[in-house]
Amino acid sequence: MGNEAQSRLFELTGIRLPIIQAPMAAVSSASMAAAASDAGGLGSVGVGAMNAKGARETIQAIRRVSERPFNVNLFVHRPAIRDPGREAAWVKRFTKEFERFDAVPPATLKEIYESFATDDDMLAMLVEEKPKVVSFHFGVPSANSIRALHDAGIVLIATATSLAEAKILEAAGIDAIVAQGYEAGGHRGMFDENGRDDRLGTIALTRILVRNVRVPVIAAGGIMDGAGISAALRMGAAAAQMGTAFILSDESLADEAYRKALRSDAANHTVITRAVSGRPARSLSSRFTAAGETILDIEVPAYPVAYDLGKALNAAAKAKGEAGFGAQWAGQGAPLARAMPTSELMKVLMQEMQEA
Ligand SMILES: Cc1cc2nc3c(=O)[nH]c(=O)nc-3n(C[C@H](O)[C@H](O)[C@H](O)COP(=O)(O)O)c2cc1C
Repeated sequence: MGNEAQSRLFELTGIRLPIIQAPMAAVSSASMAAAASDAGGLGSVGVGAMNAKGARETIQAIRRVSERPFNVNLFVHRPAIRDPGREAAWVKRFTKEFERFDAVPPATLKEIYESFATDDDMLAMLVEEKPKVVSFHFGVPSANSIRALHDAGIVLIATATSLAEAKILEAAGIDAIVAQGYEAGGHRGMFDENGRDDRLGTIALTRILVRNVRVPVIAAGGIMDGAGISAALRMGAAAAQMGTAFILSDESLADEAYRKALRSDAANHTVITRAVSGRPARSLSSRFTAAGETILDIEVPAYPVAYDLGKALNAAAKAKGEAGFGAQWAGQGAPLARAMPTSELMKVLMQEMQEA
């Protein structure tokens, strides 16, 4: 099956299969990306939580084992607007939880990683390393960054959760757009996490974008098998971007507790919460998401300041054998996740697409 958008994406990126293994910060790995790319798809690494040095090492690790094109993904969130009062109240709110694990919460919270919007070292590194594809989540980079990356011959992809965001990306010169539906695992890529969210599902959003933008649209959210990929292509998508489908792969960095949770009943009950990180993200139901249910949005510190506490609480809980505070992101298709090597999963997906 093929369509014009698919041909355009293949031409731009050099891939041969309409499958993008989604970038997943702390879950996708260099070996996962290499295996997905070697199979003909687009392997991705999520380096949004790394500095330029770490990201460069990840790029080099892929290049040591694969010669195929791959995608390096960054976060372009608005730098955190700090609110000391809200942050202190947040720490206080979770102090009892820390105490239950014989731990103390951090005295103050930090912005634990920098947005690409202000990270000149990251831009310089990318221009030097020239990965075939760079993708963005949470916003659009500056015109200068886009020009510098394009001048280096890099193809640019970015996430939209609405037509308005897609129009901004298209006008900025982004080469292909990920239509991220509400079903999707991980953080919603919405530019303004406090703005209106129409919560469009993958089918509606993909069709709205295919009909209204000229660049290739990549469907994402709840796509777990070849039948899902075929459906996305039939809707005019150039490819499917799949995250949750790869969490149980051999190359995934997900720990044993996360894998176990994904194989449990929690997979049938994914929840969007901002309590873990400060931005809305879809997670397996857990102790943390349950706590989040009674919390108002305005009580949560900015992203990724809230994540500083989330990560500290997870470390404290894990040290005592409690895995329910980890960032266990997963999409609504979670019960369909399969455990196998990435290369095998790519083969199975291809075969299922042909059958569909
Ligand atoms: C564990 C996990 C981590 C993710 N991390 C990122 C990320 O770092 N950057 C990004 O652009 N998208 C990230 N996403 C979202 C994916 O790009 C994609 O939108 C989503 O996985 C699609 O939905 P699915 O999980 O149902 O396949 C993540 C998703 C998951 C499941």
